[in-house]
This record gives sequence, C-alpha cells and structure tokens, in this order.
Amino acid sequence: MNRLGVALLTIIASACPSIATAGIRASGPRCEYRVDPLGIDVMEPRLSWILESDQRGQKQTAYRILVASTPERLAADQGDLWDSGKVDSDQTIHMVYQGKPLQSRMHCWWKVRVWDAEGKPSAYSEPAMWSMGLLEPGDWEAQWIADPRDATVFDGGPMPATMLRKGFNINGPIRRATVYATGLGLYELRMNGRRVGDHLLAPEFTDYDRRIQYQTFDVTDLVAAGENAVGAVLADGWNGEYFFGMPMNQHQRPFEGRRGFLMRLDVELVDGTVQTIVTDDSWQSTREGPTRSASIYDGEVYDARMEMPGWDEPGFDAGLWNRAVVADYFVGANPVWQPNQPIRVVKELQPVKLTEPKPGVFIFDLGQNMVGRCRLKVHGHPGTTVTLRHGEMLNGDGTLYTANLRGATQTDRYTKRTGVDETFEPRFTYHGFRYVELTGQYHKPWVYVPPYKPRLGDLMGRVFHSAAPEAGRFECSDELINRIMHMVVWTQRGNLHGIPTDCPQRDERGGWMGDIQAFSQTAMFNMDMAAFFCKWVPDVRDAQQHDGRYPNFAPMDFDRWKGGTPAWADAGTVVPWRMYQNYGDTRMLEEHYESARRWVDFVHGKNPDLLWTRDMGNNFNDWLNGDTLIKEGWPTRGGAIPPRVLASAFFAHSTEIVAKMAAVLGREDDAAKYGRMFEGIKAVFNEAYVGPDGRIEGDTQAGYALALRFNLLPDKLRPKAARHMVDQFRRYDGHMSTGIQTSHRLMLELTRNGYGDEAYRLLALRTCPSWGFMADQGATTIWERWDGYVPGRGFQKPMMNSFNHWALGAVGEWIWRCVVGINPDESQPAYKHFVIRPEPGGDLTWARGEYRSIRGTIASDWRLENGRFLLDVTVPTNTTATVYLPAKEVKAVTVDGRPAGQSRLVRPLGMERGKAAFAVESGRYRFESHMPESE
Ligand code: BGC
Repeated sequence: MNRLGVALLTIIASACPSIATAGIRASGPRCEYRVDPLGIDVMEPRLSWILESDQRGQKQTAYRILVASTPERLAADQGDLWDSGKVDSDQTIHMVYQGKPLQSRMHCWWKVRVWDAEGKPSAYSEPAMWSMGLLEPGDWEAQWIADPRDATVFDGGPMPATMLRKGFNINGPIRRATVYATGLGLYELRMNGRRVGDHLLAPEFTDYDRRIQYQTFDVTDLVAAGENAVGAVLADGWNGEYFFGMPMNQHQRPFEGRRGFLMRLDVELVDGTVQTIVTDDSWQSTREGPTRSASIYDGEVYDARMEMPGWDEPGFDAGLWNRAVVADYFVGANPVWQPNQPIRVVKELQPVKLTEPKPGVFIFDLGQNMVGRCRLKVHGHPGTTVTLRHGEMLNGDGTLYTANLRGATQTDRYTKRTGVDETFEPRFTYHGFRYVELTGQYHKPWVYVPPYKPRLGDLMGRVFHSAAPEAGRFECSDELINRIMHMVVWTQRGNLHGIPTDCPQRDERGGWMGDIQAFSQTAMFNMDMAAFFCKWVPDVRDAQQHDGRYPNFAPMDFDRWKGGTPAWADAGTVVPWRMYQNYGDTRMLEEHYESARRWVDFVHGKNPDLLWTRDMGNNFNDWLNGDTLIKEGWPTRGGAIPPRVLASAFFAHSTEIVAKMAAVLGREDDAAKYGRMFEGIKAVFNEAYVGPDGRIEGDTQAGYALALRFNLLPDKLRPKAARHMVDQFRRYDGHMSTGIQTSHRLMLELTRNGYGDEAYRLLALRTCPSWGFMADQGATTIWERWDGYVPGRGFQKPMMNSFNHWALGAVGEWIWRCVVGINPDESQPAYKHFVIRPEPGGDLTWARGEYRSIRGTIASDWRLENGRFLLDVTVPTNTTATVYLPAKEVKAVTVDGRPAGQSRLVRPLGMERGKAAFAVESGRYRFESHMPESE
C-alpha cells in the first residue's frame, strides 16, 4: 500500500474508535458452506468466513485458524487439533483443514483471526463448530431394523406407517447427547415425547442403492438421567413411490421398496462415560398407529383414534407391539452425511379468502401458489373425517381444478379422536397448491346441530423447502418486474425438496436436468445454493451411465429413459461450472471433472465429425417453444430451433466448460485438447449451420440466442445474427418464439448486443406469450407453459400444465445481471472480483438489488433523476469490482460528489460501449453521471 493509502486508513481508523486494532474482522464462519454442521463425513472440511470493515479498500493479508477439541481449549487459544499459524494470504473461502486426522463422532471448535492491509491483527472471530459423523458403516454399531411386516416386499399399495420404540436408562447427569439416524422411506425421530430436530421428509431423495443420507442431531436437551424413550415413525416416501404416474420397477426401488431404520445415540455423561443406544432387535414395532398411509404424491391418511399417547415416552406399555426385526436386506447400504440444508418450514401463509362453491365444500385461497402442506383446526365429534384436497387453480364454477395433477391425488384425510377441536398437519407428504378444498367438516345429519362453517383462521399454509438461505433482495420502480421476480422466487421455493424439481404438484416432481440447467444461475442469485448442489451434483454422477451419458433427471434409473439428451444432460457440466463461478468450488470440480469429461467424450464418440446429429437421447429440443402455443393466428411451425443446431451448440458449450475446468485444475493437456475440440465444433457449426450473412439454420430466435450466448460466432457475424434475432420478432407480432432453453438466453443476448430496449419491451408485454401475460392472469409463480391458461380458451392440455415450473423463470438471471447489474467474473471466481453493470431501460426509474455473496453483501442501487444517473454500489471488503455506468465520458462522472480519478480506490478505466468503467476497491460509493442521450 502506498503512503497516501496508509495515511488515509490511519485517519479513518482514528475517526472510528470502535475499531480495536485491525481495520477488519472476520465473521460468519462456515464449514462446508454450513453454519455449525453436525455429523459431516468430509475428512478435510473447508472453512470460510466473511470480512467486515468500515474502511474502504481494506484487505486481508494473513489469517490464522485455530481448531480445538473442546470449547474451553479454543477459548484459551489452544488449537490442539489444528493451528494453521499465521498464513500470508488474502483467501477467505475454502480453507482446507490440515490438522490432526478427524475421526468419527469428533466435535471440533474453531475460530479465525485476520490481519488487515497494514498488517494489524484482528481479534478472533466468534467461535464456530462442526462435528464428524460416522465415517465407516461399521462405526454405527447398529443394525437396520423394521417391523416384521416391513420385511415383505412392497406391493405398491398404500401402507400404514411403522412405529418403532425403545426405552432405556441413563445412569447419571448428561454432558452431551448426539443421535445419528436414517431410514427408508421417510422417518421422523422422537425422544421422550418430543420431536427431534425440524427436518422434514428426511432422509430426502437420493439413488438409495448408492447413498442414503443420515442426519445428526444434538439431543442433549431431550435426554435426561433416568428412564428415557426413543421412537421413530417410518413411512413410505421416494423409496417405494411411482414416478411419472408409473410404479417403479425393482431396479428403481433399491431394497425392493422395503423399509428400514438405523440409529445410534451417544450419551456422554458428566463422569466421562458414554452410553450408546443403537437400533437392534431389542426394539419394539407396530403398524397399528394413526398414520394409515402416506405418499409423496397422494397425501396422508391419519386416524387420530389410533394414536397411542405416550408411545414415545418412558413407561409406555408396548405389550401388544411386535419385536422389531433386523432388516438384513439393507446390508450394503451406504449411509452418508447430508450436505444440504434440511427441508424445513420457512414461512406460514394465512388464507386470504374462503368460499363455499357447493354446500359443504369449502375452498381456502392462500393467495399464493405455494408448496408444503396445511395445518388445520379440525372441528367435530369423535370419528369425524375431514378431507383436504390441494390444487393450483379453480374451475370456472369456483371448485378445485385438479386435472393438471394427473395421477397425484394430493389428498390428506384426518379422522377425529375427541369431541374438542384437534390440529392436523400431515408429516410424510407435500403438495403444490394455492387452493385447498375442505370437506367432511359437518356433523352427522341426524344430530340437530347447525353445520359447522370453517373460518379463515382454521387453516394455515406451511411453506417448506430445502432451506438454502435467501441471498438476493430485489426491488425496482416497475411493479410488473417486481411481480415477475416475486413469481420467480416463489417458484424456486416450490421446487427445492432435496432435489431441484421440475414441478411440485403432479405425479412427476423429478430432478429434471434441463430445467435446473436453465435456471441454475437465477437460483444462485436468489439463494445460497452451494450446499444444495453439493448434495445434488453427486446425485447426477450416481445416475451417469457407464458409457458417460448423463441422465434426463437425477436421481433416476435408465430402464425407461435413454438420457444423454442435449441441454438436459448438459446440466452435468453447467451446474458444477456455476458452482465454480459463484462459489469458487474447485473441490467440486476435482470430484466432478472425470465425469464431465466422460460426458463430452460420449457425445464426441458418437459424433466424431463434431456436429451432434446422432444419439440425442430423448431429444426434448427447446421444450415448450412458440410452436407449442395454442393461439389464433399464431404460427405453429418455424419457432422451434432445429434439434441438431441446439444439440451442437450445447456440445460446444459443454466442451468449452470441460476445457475451462481442466485449466482450473491444472490439467494442461486436457485444457488444450478440449479447447481445440471447442474451436473445432465452432468451426464446423459455422460451416454447417451459419450463412455468410449471419443467418443460422432455421432462422429462429432460439438459434441466434444460443449461438450468441455460447460465443459460437465469429465477431463479424455477431451483430448480423443479433439483428436477425430481433427481426424474427415481427413474425410473432413482437413476441418470443423461444422455449425453456432459450428465452432467458435471448434476453441476455439482446442486452449484450445493444438491444436492451427490446429486452425491456419483451418483459413489459402483457399479451401471450410473455411473463406479463402470466402475471395478468393472476399467476403468483412461473407457469410451465406460456399459455397455461388463456381467458376465453381456458386451460392448456392438462397432461403438461403445471403452474409452478421454474424453467421459464430463468429470466431472473437477466433481471439480476442487467437490471441490478451484478455479474460474477469467472477469472476471479466467487466474487473475488465482479462486475457491476446496470443496463437501465424501459420505463424504469430506479432499481436496487442486494446479493449476499460468499464473500459478503454486494449492492447495486441506481436511480434516474432529471437526466442524471445515480448509482450506489457496495463492494465487500477484500474484493474488487469493475463498475460500469452510462455516461458521456469518464471525466464527467463523479464519485461521492468529486470528479472521478482522484482516489486510488476508484480508478477510471475508460469508456466502453457508452459506459464509463472504473476499477473499484471495496467500500460503498456513490457514482453520478449524466445519461448520454440527455446531454
Ligand atoms: C418436465 C419438464 C422437463 C420435460 C422434458 C417434463 O415432464 O416437467 O420440465 O424438462 O419433461 O421434456
């Protein structure tokens, strides 16, 4: 740092007495992307923190990490497991643990201190912790158990849940108790009458014959000296379900769809001894409990009359229960930790309206298409059965529309036990819905009591999903754009249930690769998706074929589907690469590289001439493009990109990604080889499909969008291709003819190629097809189809007509990159350096977005005022940004009211395409310019 900088920092520091020694501090410590994770099985966990400072341009110059085996040792600054010593480095993410070897069930406490730009050390951060799980199957010392009837092969029909219990004695006061558990299908754990943890639908969906996730809970507060009891409820989930309306076959149902439960509880006493309780045949079991059946798709049937109060408490008489059996069919199961945040309730919605379209049929409107389930106050005499059905839309007569659910009934039933009001909330299912139909709430007709009319407050929508923290906050002056972003975020909330699903309501809900491939960058702007993808990318690898083909959806099997479909299979390269761009996850690249390379080699092997024309798997092409619209006068042909153009474009894109992955990993030979292959694909693509005038075979908006987005065209043809893309709007009366793979890419390339106003125009459209059209029909989530519902015409064909499908919501990426203007820079990934480049347009007068990156909060907040452009930016400590803003010339821009160029913290870089560019050090700044056209 130069002398001026040091002097400046000294002045600032002395003006801020709250800063102790260093100008920075470390906060937000995380291990493997998670706050204090329990039961991890990563042998070299990665530690990260965020830096905070009140000073601009502050940097970390060194760090020291301490990891201790007890909190006391950590408090005494003793890193008995690892003391990194002072390491000169500006890195704050993915610091790999390099201390004593970690063992099963160890607890590790850690903290970090950092040195600032002047070499002054900060105080240590707040302490954080992680604990190790059970690293080897043998470490469980437990056996998979089940009810004797669970041992018979699942027959596909609804079955009552299994209840398992065991009483045990604890010999003295407790220091700490930890439980490790998993089960198939879904389990809920209870101890001494209380629920353990808040995880829903555990252990979530994986290829169970490859990996079954286990969960770890601290139960110190649930166990006590003396008599205790532990209980588990086990119901069917993804282990025995049908998928896509068809029952799963044997191969798809590892362990033949049978149930099992595995648990180890360690209770550490104050005197230092450890008591361990494990699952074995000393447990008792029954299937005579209240959960009569449960299904992810079909809902839950619960008969409260069959409840057994006290079953999960000590002293319960389980004399009528069975002796649990050892489920030896689970031998070979591979329990692994759950890297992603659990599915948990994140919001509650009160209904906004209650109607009675037919006598005794009540419809609650939650005002928002949501995913989760309901909590209902049930009124009536003992034995009253109420039924809840869930749907996304209403029929014209106000009754529930369910045709688009296909085979999924989404129906919960509850039978009352007593005459007083009871509360029902199903536990082993989830639904996608805005409307809930309640029936059965009447007294029997021969009892003369007026029928009970439910009230709005009787029902509550409980919204749950994989609890990836929300990372983005966006707002602007245009209500329609705000509305569209609202729809995008709610669609994301609705499709994260351990896997990224296509939709949450019909009999599908699969981890469709093409959908998340399109939506992944939007997803990462809206939420911190790092831990989620640490779970799902291995699902993708588990489902990869021996020949290198990636599946269409993961988890999956290959019995019915070919897989290897352009744009779908390519999620296997695109998503891990986005993990690198957004979170700097080089470990994921290391683990995934071979898999990604094998995919590209597969396509190459089948298409040695470098045009992907053979083996296109299921060839979904640009799904739901304009040709699928049902609309008077709308062209029914010519919107769909020719499949081989789309396929070759994705082949090029995946090959380029593999080349880049190889370069990051230092595999230079591969980087060169795949780099050459990418160039080769580009060359033949241009030769085969691109004319000298820049026209691309098929002359589709989609074709231009893809070729431009994937940088396949020579520079001189880019403007021509962009022009053709815009010209194509005429054929569609100013609308898009693109599908799920190209709509957001079209928006991004319009703006990148100087047609930003066209992009704003498309976003402002209120006619079909457009996002505004969906919004005007009352959509609160993104629809699967542009024309899911059209007034006068009604619903699209019910076979494929979800109202909660995120693929077309990938336009969120355009809003983040172009309206807010935040862009990661893959040459300095994870926002070490990034670009802020808002592109004002349309009728927008202001927009602001805040994004909590892995290195701290980035903000871009702009406003147009009388021809002036005001931009407030926040660049997190220890990062840098390049900021672009519209201006006539660089000199005319001011920073905090002073002409730009006077501070080393904001260096003018010159003009680029009508924008002034600046290299900016960390801190908050106000830029001000005059809009070029207003001068
Ligand atoms: C899904 C889509 C998916 C598609 C493949 C559908 O059933 O809902 O979103 O990508 O199949 O064409």
